[in-house]
Amino acid sequence: MSETAKIELGGNVYEFPVIEGTENEKAIDISNLRAATGYVTLDTGYKNTGATTSAITFLDGEEGILKYRGYPIEELAEKATFIEVAYLLIYGNLPTQLQLDTFRSNITKHTLVHEDMKQFFEAYPAKAHPMGVLSSMVCSLSTFYPESLDPNRSPEAKDLTILRLLAKLPTLAAWAYKNSMRHPFMYPKNEFDYCKNFLYMMFAMPTEEFKVDPVVVDALNKLLILHADHEQNCSTSTVRIVGSSQANLYASISAGISALWGPLHGGANQEVIEMLEKIHADGGDVDKWVLKAKDKEDPFRLMGFGHRVYKNFDPRAKIIKKACDDILEKLGVNDPLLAIAKRLEQVALEDEYFKSRNLYPNVDFYSGIIYKAIGIPTEMFTVMFAIGRLPGWIAQWKEMTENKEPIGRPRQIYTGEVLRHYDSIENRK
Ligand code: CMC
Repeated sequence: MSETAKIELGGNVYEFPVIEGTENEKAIDISNLRAATGYVTLDTGYKNTGATTSAITFLDGEEGILKYRGYPIEELAEKATFIEVAYLLIYGNLPTQLQLDTFRSNITKHTLVHEDMKQFFEAYPAKAHPMGVLSSMVCSLSTFYPESLDPNRSPEAKDLTILRLLAKLPTLAAWAYKNSMRHPFMYPKNEFDYCKNFLYMMFAMPTEEFKVDPVVVDALNKLLILHADHEQNCSTSTVRIVGSSQANLYASISAGISALWGPLHGGANQEVIEMLEKIHADGGDVDKWVLKAKDKEDPFRLMGFGHRVYKNFDPRAKIIKKACDDILEKLGVNDPLLAIAKRLEQVALEDEYFKSRNLYPNVDFYSGIIYKAIGIPTEMFTVMFAIGRLPGWIAQWKEMTENKEPIGRPRQIYTGEVLRHYDSIENRK
């Protein structure tokens, strides 16, 4: 007989099935718990709750393992292109040459955004944070493609929406930046690949010839792959839960972008650089800032450190740390922030506070230094994360719709007043 879990409540014993994933992860399936017992489970922050079964990404936080569709992240970061990885995540397998060519050419057909959207950009103040602009622009795409509003219309319609979004996100992201500079928008150049095209739209000027170092294009490709999926994190769960109400893809991804923006999630990459700059401006006394991070009275946290699921080194951080050294050397950049970051990492890793809590550098700790070296402005760092995460969000949304998952609707334990009666305003204290 397969394994079960027994729960004893009020003298009764209830049995629940144990389910096992392909990597031997185990879960107690409590989907029948409330019906059987009248109880719910309570798990604030979902630290122990599996919200779904998924065949996309596997990660083992204790061992520091991350795989997309079974492929180790190290291999993909070393050998693949971002577009291959996007295909892999969304459609389940690495593409054949023909599939890849078709996928690429379909994406390039949709890189333009509707001319009317330019007016939306122009209405934003120059100081608008690009994540706010990006989230709104992605949701706005739904107004231009009303046929996308029904996510279950047909597999072909779903694929078209996916292609449009993959194609347009870099254009929207680059235009958010151009608008903040009040520079002219650069239209996509479809002879360039995905990463080079984005860099072109970000940095080219109509008056100058566009040149980009292939080292920069490779670095961007690697960073986007490393960010492409991370199973049921905050933004992905947001995408899935918004999508579970059968909201369209654009609305669901727009919500994911908003969730990513927070400093505890994707917003940490911007916070890391700002923290390193502050430490640098303050004289570079790393020990002082480590003390601050440990002080429970001080709200300061070491940004880029710690992770909800990695209790060992984040495998992405290992790859990024090495890439960071390589890229800075190849580009001949000498960034004092890198020296501070390395010192901070060394001090923290030897410190009992960080050791006992398994706090290691995460993906955001070194990524900002690379983005800075390749000329991406700090406020755009989280936007870069969003471009990287897009295929993962899409894959998760697609899987959720294909599995016909029910609407996401957690329970709660109510702790408020039991019953009160309306008082006229004169009688209120
Ligand atoms: N600096 C100092 N102390 C920390 C840090 C940190 N960065 N992270 C966790 N702690 C402490 C925390 O105070 C707590 O201590 P205690 O047990 O004494 O109360 C303990 O470690 C556990 O922390 P937690 O907040 O309960 O852990 P969590 O799993 O809820 O939070 C986290 C994970 C990533 C939000 C948190 O580690 C953090 O705030 N890190 C800094 C922000 C950051 O770098 N975020 C990017 C995450 S990776 C990119 C992504 O996928 O989004």
